[in-house]
Amino acid sequence: MPFDHNDHYHRTLLRRVPKGCRTALDVGCGTGRFARRLASLGIQVDAVDPAAEVIKAAEAEGGGPRFHHADITEMELPEGRYDYISCLASIHHVPFGTVAALRDALAPGGVLAILGCYPERSAVDYAWSLAAIPANAAARLAVAATEPRGRAEGTRAPVRNPEMSLEEIRREAAALLPGATIRRLLFWRYLLVYRRPS
Ligand SMILES: C[S@@+](CC[C@H](N)C(=O)[O-])C[C@H]1O[C@@H](n2cnc3c(N)ncnc32)[C@H](O)[C@@H]1O
Repeated sequence: MPFDHNDHYHRTLLRRVPKGCRTALDVGCGTGRFARRLASLGIQVDAVDPAAEVIKAAEAEGGGPRFHHADITEMELPEGRYDYISCLASIHHVPFGTVAALRDALAPGGVLAILGCYPERSAVDYAWSLAAIPANAAARLAVAATEPRGRAEGTRAPVRNPEMSLEEIRREAAALLPGATIRRLLFWRYLLVYRRPS
């Protein structure tokens, strides 16, 4: 795994953590790399994933978060509980409408940050993909130069191809998360940020 498109955006996502954040939920946490970064800031983190092997690996590494072996669509999330909710490359694993439950689980002033994946459908999508190819190659080379022996192969989180176009995501987000911003990022990703009114 020479260059991870999701890890690349950790700092972008950390900048969205609201001031004074005390509680966070990381949805589809995989082996917990982002959840651990949140916990290292002194935040109380719940991290959820239904894949038994990744939760086992996450728990073995520890680092502060409470890891839950669970499917987010089947959980009863406490209303108004979290100051920050993150979903890194995981929202396309569940129906997009799941964001309504995440929205309601935000405390007033809380932030939902989704690092999402989308399929290429439009000419603009293809143009961004084209731009990402050389950047991706350069990033891989840079990582290979700084980590010549590569990161140790460990447990890999389940992946799946996204199906909802960015256009459809924008439409559904407008209905379910009024005021949310969505912007394209390089490497086949978008960033959705929603703040629950105080
Ligand atoms: C592409 S991986 C991303 C993992 C991690 N967020 C990262 O950045 O490395 C998507 C994760 O979503 C998890 N996932 C799939 N269905 C889910 C569900 N119903 N509830 C919560 N997480 C789910 C998968 O098990 C997988 O670990």
